[in-house]
Amino acid sequence: MLPCAPVHDEFAARRAMIDDYLRTLASRTAAPRPLVAPLQRALNSPGKRVRGILTLCAGEAAGGKAEKLIDAAAALEMIHTCSLILDDLPSMDDAMLRRGAPTLHREFGEDLAILSAVALLNHAYGLIARNHAALSPRQWPMQQVMRRVVDAVGWDGTIAGEAVDLHSEESKLDFDTLEFIHSRKTGALFVAAAAVGAMLANVSAAALQRIEVFAKNLGLAFQITDDILDVIGDPQQLGKDVGKDEQKLTFVKLAGVDGARKLSEELVETSLSAISNLGNADGLRTLAIAVRDRVR
Ligand code: IPE
Ligand code: IPE
Ligand code: MG
Ligand code: MG
Ligand code: MG
Repeated sequence: MLPCAPVHDEFAARRAMIDDYLRTLASRTAAPRPLVAPLQRALNSPGKRVRGILTLCAGEAAGGKAEKLIDAAAALEMIHTCSLILDDLPSMDDAMLRRGAPTLHREFGEDLAILSAVALLNHAYGLIARNHAALSPRQWPMQQVMRRVVDAVGWDGTIAGEAVDLHSEESKLDFDTLEFIHSRKTGALFVAAAAVGAMLANVSAAALQRIEVFAKNLGLAFQITDDILDVIGDPQQLGKDVGKDEQKLTFVKLAGVDGARKLSEELVETSLSAISNLGNADGLRTLAIAVRDRVR
C-alpha cells in the first residue's frame, strides 16, 4: 500500500473529483510567495479524502448529485487537513511524516505551517457557504448548515478532543473519557461532513438524524482503527509516524488490539443499522465496511 492508498476502489472517481478541485484551488491561490509552497503542499498532499467522500455519499443518500456538492466536500477535506497540520506540530504530536512526506512544519517552518492551517480553515467556510448559495431549492438555511461545521470544529468539537487528548495523562482511562476525546477530535468532523452533504441535498429531518447517527459511530470506529494502526501499522504503508500515541489514552490501551478491533466492528455495525432503511445509501455502506476492514 502506498501512502495515498485509497480507502476503497469504489471511491476512486469521487476521490479524483476532490483531488482535482483542491489542485485547481492550489494552482489559483492568491497567496503571497512565502505561503504558496506550503499551501500548495497542504492542498495537494495525497489524503484518502474520507471526509469529503462522506459528504458526497451522504448527499447521494439524500438523493443529491455528487458534482453539486464538490465545494463542500473539498472544504471538509481542507478543515481536516488543517487539523492534521496542527496535530503534527512540535507542541502537539511532534510528528515527522505525513501523507508520505515530511510534515508541513518540518518542510516549511512552524510559522508558515500554522498560517497555512488557519488559511485552509477560513477558506473552507467560504466554500461551504458558496456551495449552499449556488443550490436551489434550499430546504435548510445556510445558517443551519454552517452551524453544523462551526460547532463540530469549535471548543466542544475537534478542539476539545485535541485539548483533552494532549493532556490525557491527567484523565482517567475509562470508556467515558475515551469516548469524550475520540468522538470530539474525530467523530465531530465526520458528523459535520455527512450532515453538510445531506443538508445541501435537501435531506429530510428524519433521514438527517439517521445519517448523523451513522457518521458519529463511523467517526469513532475510524479513530479506533487509527489507534490500532498506530500500534500495529507500518509507517511506510501509512505514510505517517506510528507509536505517536504511546503516552495517550486510546481504546487500545483500555482493551488491547483485539478488544479495540472488536469495538470498532461493533461501532460499524451500529452505524450500518442506523441507515438500514435508507435508499441510495450504498456509498455510505461501502465506506463503513472499508473503515472496518482497515484493521482486518
Ligand atoms: C488521520 O486521518 C487523522 C485521524 C483523525 C485519525 P486520515 O487517516 O483520514 O488521514 P488522511 O486524510 O488520509 O491523510
Ligand atoms: C488526530 O488524531 C485527530 C485530529 C483531530 C487531527 P491522531 O493524532 O491519532 O492522528 P494521526 O495518527 O496523527 O493522523
Ligand atoms: Mg493527535
Ligand atoms: Mg497525531
Ligand atoms: Mg493516530
